[in-house]
Amino acid sequence: MKDFISLTDYSTANLKELLRIASKLKSMYRVGMQDWCIPGKSMAMIFEKPSLRTRVSFSVAMADLGGHVIYIRPEDIGGLGEREPMKDTARVLSRYAHVIVARTFEHQKVVDLARHSSVPVINALTDWLHPCQAMADVLTIKENFDKLDGLRVVYIGDGNNVARSLAFACAKFGMKLTVASPAGYELDEETIKQANSVAKGSVTQVSDAPKGVADAQVIYTDTWVSMGQEQQQEQRVKDFIAFRVNAELLKEAPDGVKIMHCLPAHRGMEITDEVFESKNSLILDQAENRLHFQRALLKKLLGPQEQL
Ligand code: CP
Ligand code: NVA
Repeated sequence: MKDFISLTDYSTANLKELLRIASKLKSMYRVGMQDWCIPGKSMAMIFEKPSLRTRVSFSVAMADLGGHVIYIRPEDIGGLGEREPMKDTARVLSRYAHVIVARTFEHQKVVDLARHSSVPVINALTDWLHPCQAMADVLTIKENFDKLDGLRVVYIGDGNNVARSLAFACAKFGMKLTVASPAGYELDEETIKQANSVAKGSVTQVSDAPKGVADAQVIYTDTWVSMGQEQQQEQRVKDFIAFRVNAELLKEAPDGVKIMHCLPAHRGMEITDEVFESKNSLILDQAENRLHFQRALLKKLLGPQEQL
């Protein structure tokens, strides 16, 4: 695979291999060892939306491996696909950079960039998917449980980009995902069908948050209002009110259930401060693992293969 756009493009064996490299690089990082495997390589980053974690973790990962980053704000280039056709942007950037990391509203923009680029394109979040987040999440879950196979994850909230990539990750790694959403905000049927064609029964949609968590080992949530949906804020807050991860919901879940959130979090909305800061929260580990996973991804896409 040239690009990293969707987990569905990769086999489970390929994804497991990426996690193996990520764990190895994380152990090296812990003892201060560097893997200077891509000196002189450059990464172009184009972000149509704000970012803390993705932008910083990709930048640090690239620097740690010996490469460097050029950050491009869409307005600097007159808009992605606006001042010039996407295929020209993609082909020109491919002459300068060894990899392109893109965060866009429309998923199709990242797909088009990849189609016309001769260098790898990495999806840094679109309205549809967030695959790097899902892989960092699987790494985090793996560090906390003996096995992934059959592990029960419950996602509470919007059937959005994060939920969709999580669904594909669960299917690929043999986990069971229950998505609990209010009516009208469910994961789309095509995604559920696609995930279940990878592994039968891996993704189930329910409409009641308490029922969903009864046998959960992990509870995951994300914002009710994704980037680009700000004008729907008021309606969404009303619609999602019963889908908040709080102490009351946790009473319905087994003791010790782990808590996850991709961040940024809105305390008092989708998650309470008490739950976010509780001892079973893996939230900051997830954020850290973005760095370790993405370092592995860059090494795999750009580094000399014999060192892997
Ligand atoms: N989780 C995540 O992708 O965060 P950013 O939007 O800050 O990159
Ligand atoms: N669903 C959120 C994820 C942010 C990392 C969004 O798209 O804004």
